Amino acid sequence: MKRIIATIAATLIAELLVFIIVVGTGLSGALYNVSTLSPDPGFLRWIFSSTSDNSVKYHANGIKVPSLTDSSLIAMGFDHYNEMCVTCHAGPGLEKSEAGMGIYPQAPNLARSAKEMPPQNLFWVIKNGIKSTAMPGFAKTHTDDKIWAMVAFLEKMKNMTPAQYKAMEKANESMKSMKMNMKMDEHGH
Ligand code: HEC
Repeated sequence: MKRIIATIAATLIAELLVFIIVVGTGLSGALYNVSTLSPDPGFLRWIFSSTSDNSVKYHANGIKVPSLTDSSLIAMGFDHYNEMCVTCHAGPGLEKSEAGMGIYPQAPNLARSAKEMPPQNLFWVIKNGIKSTAMPGFAKTHTDDKIWAMVAFLEKMKNMTPAQYKAMEKANESMKSMKMNMKMDEHGH
């Protein structure tokens, strides 16, 4: 029994040494290419994506979902989406930016994600982001209310046509210019 334990311990120490040598000497640079043009092999992608999915599910569990149907909440969510998310995720009738085209892993189509993920998971991802991918966390710059507004818009975007998106963009622009005019009036008096 003692010999078996000693053999296992020696094997583990040897493996650890090989691991340190591979990482420390730079051999790992030849084994793993960090280029966005070099997609990860299937087994690595499977490890990353299932760990990420499980982590989101685990941490989002128990988050209470508020009502997401209010039209002013959806309009506020649209404003944020149009300004901050299209770059990487595109949208109905919209292309990603050049930066968004160059990231790896690619940002998914959020109309599809919203069909597959419950609202609390969307909320958690937008608030926290996803480490070592381009997905930013918005907790440092946005209150929970604003993040729920983005989720409310995503729920609406599930079945949105490019024409409906354009119509929301127009409504958003005219609301913004109305607010600007009101501000200018206030200063004028
Ligand atoms: C700089 C690029 C970038 C920006 C900007 C960005 N995202 Fe992402 N987002 C990503 C990437 C990349 C992923 C996929 C990460 C992965 O593979 O795990 C992602 C994943 C997500 C997911 C999870 C989708 C799924 O199917 O698992 C949600 C939800 C999301 N983003 C929402 C948003 C929202 C809302 C905004 C704007 C407020 C936004 N993102 C802005 C890059 C971005």
